[in-house]
Amino acid sequence: MKVLVIGGGGREHAVVDALTRSASVTEIVCTPGNPGIAAQARCVPCVQEPPFLAALAGSEGADLVIVGPEGPLAAGVTDALSARGIPVFGPSMAAARLEGDKTWSKAFMVRHGIPTAQFRSFEALGPALAYASVQPLPLVVKDAGLRAGKGVTICHNMDQAWVALRTIFSESGARAVIEEFMVGQEVSVLAFADGTRAVQMLPSQDHKTIYDQDQGPMTGGMGVICPYPLTATEQGTIQDRILDPVMRGMAAEQTPFVGVLYAGLMLTAQGPKVVEFNARFGDPEAEAVLPLLRGDLAQIALSCALGRLDPAQVRFSGGASAVVILAAPGYPGEPRRDIPLSLPSVGPDVHIYQAATAMRGEQLVSAGGRVLAVQARAATLALALGKVYALLPEVGFEDAQYRLDIGERIGVRPELV
Ligand code: GLY
Repeated sequence: MKVLVIGGGGREHAVVDALTRSASVTEIVCTPGNPGIAAQARCVPCVQEPPFLAALAGSEGADLVIVGPEGPLAAGVTDALSARGIPVFGPSMAAARLEGDKTWSKAFMVRHGIPTAQFRSFEALGPALAYASVQPLPLVVKDAGLRAGKGVTICHNMDQAWVALRTIFSESGARAVIEEFMVGQEVSVLAFADGTRAVQMLPSQDHKTIYDQDQGPMTGGMGVICPYPLTATEQGTIQDRILDPVMRGMAAEQTPFVGVLYAGLMLTAQGPKVVEFNARFGDPEAEAVLPLLRGDLAQIALSCALGRLDPAQVRFSGGASAVVILAAPGYPGEPRRDIPLSLPSVGPDVHIYQAATAMRGEQLVSAGGRVLAVQARAATLALALGKVYALLPEVGFEDAQYRLDIGERIGVRPELV
């Protein structure tokens, strides 16, 4: 089948890479793609808005469209593709509210008894500040809209809460969610969803702040380990109390969920609770999880799009995978661009996924905040991390930022061989 992938970051590079291993795929097209993706797929420019993307899928004769980023999903690209009868792996605009509108998402969780942090939603600065000022610290302030993972602030004092809320409400029409701070290990559980059924992928753990020891501002994610060692009981609880109720609730509300249901969870003393839902592959979770997928990604995605996913299709290899992100100086603020990059060739169990890169003439350069995702697979997490960290001196670029403590939260340190 011919597959069109929408997006041009590290996540989409990992998706395209997985599609090259899918026996059912005859051709991969990606829009807009990036220089790394261009080595594995035909990249075509297109205005990244639903009518243009749907027209491209039609003119390309795509048998399946896989949508990477949240932006086109929130804008309704799935609806535009479905209207043309093109199978699409991604939720409708209504279902993508699970990620795109945190106020709606929290209310959905309450309606369906899905465990999550205590919260209140606000449409104005004054009431939000009044509420925050009487809450125990730390507290979590979230922008209710899409902010590429950077709309969340953990506030340890009222000054931080004031700055975070003032920033959110500086935009007209903004809304904020204020939540209790949950304590525990944070885990990303992504599931393939076909409208009625959600089948878990391997669990993973992202590291969201820019600096080691979970310090500094939030980013889109700086490194991932996979699998996170969830117990079978925890996986069962997540299925029964979180994923299945979402699938039932979305179907009951006439917005069945198709695509990747990404549950960002906190393993609290009271059990797993939802930090947030996303409506797509995590980035950089995809870069860590997909190299371990042994099922045919295109067949899985098509089965989801057609509402007939068989759990037996979702198979993973043993072993472990680790990702470390190399970010440009300035990120998560304004990143420096146009930094020359020079990538070494790597072995079969290692990938350098390109996230924000561009060509300037013959030179590969950085083109955004998170530039590269270096991934390795090995028998254990310690060995996978060892492979990644051993490669970084060869991959690094001028003033690159990266975390040195990926895996440490669960007591794993890189093992060099
Ligand atoms: N890694 C976090 C996200 O994809 O939102």
